[in-house]
Amino acid sequence: MRFTLSLGLVLGLALAAPAFAADTTTGEQWPLKRQEWSFEGVFGKYDQTDLQHGFQVYKEVCSACHSLNRVAFHTLSEPGGPGFSEAQMKAIAAGYQVLAGPNDKGETTDDKGNPLKRPGIPADYFPPPFPNENAARASNGGALPPDLSLIVAARNGGPDYVFSILTGFHEKTPDGFKVTDGKYFNPYFPGWNISMPPPLQDGQVTFNDWDPKKKATVADEAYAVANFLAWTSEPHLDDRHRIGVGVMVFLIVLSGLLYLSYRQVWKDAH
Ligand code: HEC
Repeated sequence: MRFTLSLGLVLGLALAAPAFAADTTTGEQWPLKRQEWSFEGVFGKYDQTDLQHGFQVYKEVCSACHSLNRVAFHTLSEPGGPGFSEAQMKAIAAGYQVLAGPNDKGETTDDKGNPLKRPGIPADYFPPPFPNENAARASNGGALPPDLSLIVAARNGGPDYVFSILTGFHEKTPDGFKVTDGKYFNPYFPGWNISMPPPLQDGQVTFNDWDPKKKATVADEAYAVANFLAWTSEPHLDDRHRIGVGVMVFLIVLSGLLYLSYRQVWKDAH
C-alpha cells in the first residue's frame, strides 16, 4: 500500500514536472501585482497629489515616446483631475509646441520645410512626440509605442497592468526562455518580450513636495503615473460616483415613501 502510494506520487510528479517546466517558457503573462488605488470602490476618488506626480512622470519620461492624444490641457485644472490652478495649467500648455495652422500667407511650413509651430493654449491637446506612425516605429526598433490616453481602460488589470509592466523589468529570465534581440524581458507583458526599454529608474523624477533626501523609487514613479493614466482614461469618475450615490439615496427614500403609502392605502383593509 505504502509502496503504491509513493509510486503514485513519484509518477504524478514526473507527469506534472514537464507541465511546470513548460510554464517558464510559454510567455504566459504573470499574475499582475495588485495595488491599492484611491479611486476604487463606490466612494473612490483620485488623489490630486498622485495625479500631479503622475503627470510629472508622464511629462518627464513617457512623453518622449508615447502620445496622449485625447487629453486637452484645460482638463488639468478641472474638478476631479490633478487640480492644477488655471495659471499653472496655462503655463503647462505654453510649455509645449503644437502645430500652428496656416499663417497669413497660407503656409504651414517654414523656409526649411519644418512645420510651423506655436506655444500651446488650454484648448490644445498634448502634442505627439513623433509626427506619424512610421517615425514612431523607426525610433523604437519597429515597435509602436501606443497612445496612453485610454491604456488603463483598454487593458485587463488597468492600473495594476501599467504598474506591473513598469516595475517588471528586473525579474530574472526563466531558464529556457530566449529574449528576442533588441527586446527586453518583462513577464507582465503578454509574450514576455517587450520593445520598450525600462523607462524608469530610482530617483529619475524629483517630486518637489517631498523631502529632498527621499528619493522616488521606480515603484513610486510607476504608481504615480498609473494613477495619472487612470484619470486620463476616466476623467469623470468623480461625477459618476456622485451621481451613483445620489441615485442610491433617491431609490432608498423612494422605497420608504412607497412603503408608507402602501401602509396608508391598506390601513382599513385589515
Ligand atoms: C524609449 C521609448 C519609450 C519610453 C520612454 C516609454 N515607453 Fe512605453 N512603450 C514603448 C514601446 C516601443 C512600446 C511597445 C512595446 C511592444 O509592443 O513590445 C511601449 C509599451 C508600453 C506599454 C504596454 C502597452 C500595451 O500595448 O499593452 C505601456 C503600459 C507603456 N509602454 C507605458 C509607458 C509609461 C507609463 C512610460 C513612462 C513611465 C513609458 N511607457 C515610457 C516605448 C517607450
